[in-house]
Amino acid sequence: TDVNMEIQGQYRRLGEYWEIPKRDVRLMDLIATGSYCEVWRGRMRKHSDSTDVLRVAIKKMLDDASAVGRKYFLAEMEVMKSLKAHSNVITLIGCYTLTGNVIPLIGCYTLTEPWMLMLEYAHEGTLQRYLQKHRPGAQHVEIQSQESVRLKNSKIDAKKLLSMATQVINGLLHLTKYKLIYYRLSASSILVAKGGVCKLSGFGFQKEITERNIYEKESLPVRCMAPESLSQNIYDTRSDTYAFGILLWQIIHFGQVPYPTMDINEVKEKVLNGERMPQPQHCSPQLFGLMERCWSGDPDQRPLYPDILQTLTTLLTHSD
Ligand code: ADE
Repeated sequence: TDVNMEIQGQYRRLGEYWEIPKRDVRLMDLIATGSYCEVWRGRMRKHSDSTDVLRVAIKKMLDDASAVGRKYFLAEMEVMKSLKAHSNVITLIGCYTLTGNVIPLIGCYTLTEPWMLMLEYAHEGTLQRYLQKHRPGAQHVEIQSQESVRLKNSKIDAKKLLSMATQVINGLLHLTKYKLIYYRLSASSILVAKGGVCKLSGFGFQKEITERNIYEKESLPVRCMAPESLSQNIYDTRSDTYAFGILLWQIIHFGQVPYPTMDINEVKEKVLNGERMPQPQHCSPQLFGLMERCWSGDPDQRPLYPDILQTLTTLLTHSD
């Protein structure tokens, strides 16, 4: 296909630095299924000649993925390859896209599917689940061994919540260095690693966002979407900022779904009408002010990431 030709071209430019032999990767269990890929928990040998293993998340393209799905898969891979590692962004460890066979006469590599991306593993899963699990009063079951199970009541305080919000902004700031937008920010697109470190995962492509947006229509996080995205499919850093405002609300509500009493159509209608969520109990006017500026109907009124970072830092120092 055309897509295959494109990649072959790309590979000759980029070399094989990222390629990991299939025998060094083991798929363990399925975590999630999307429209064109699956995410597996897995293990990877650190080096082909070593027995040291690394926990990884493996994003594996489905055999029957459409041409568009394949394109997005590769787009994500290329974006991830171009990023410098950052502690608040999931890192690409390697990928599997080639067999290494050269087709005689043509000189191209043949490609074997399924393509796979080996990603840094986030032990705690999505931020949504993490927050729900640590909701005050919630007890979660911790399996210590096959026989013993323990109920654990863990706490997250205001400081920890603010610091998680700060980490998300730091991740978003990193993406702006590459002129990337995040595009579908929500508590379920952020992953949490050991120690409660938040990491952005799953990247879009700025250029293709409109087309991609139509493709993903059914699965978009409507409750986190800016009015201009809902009405005109406009996405940029400012619509990410809007989503960050909603995310702040979700964080202080321990992973509650925004606009809890409304269905998606009602949310759309109200948000386009300029309505937003009320000031939550126990939320300081400063923090609510930040949310309100982030979810302003006028994209130009929304604060820039460095301003948000500053506000959060001030709030953090005052939360002692
Ligand atoms: N789900 C999707 N990506 C993941 C990752 N990198 N770690 C854990 N779970 C994931």
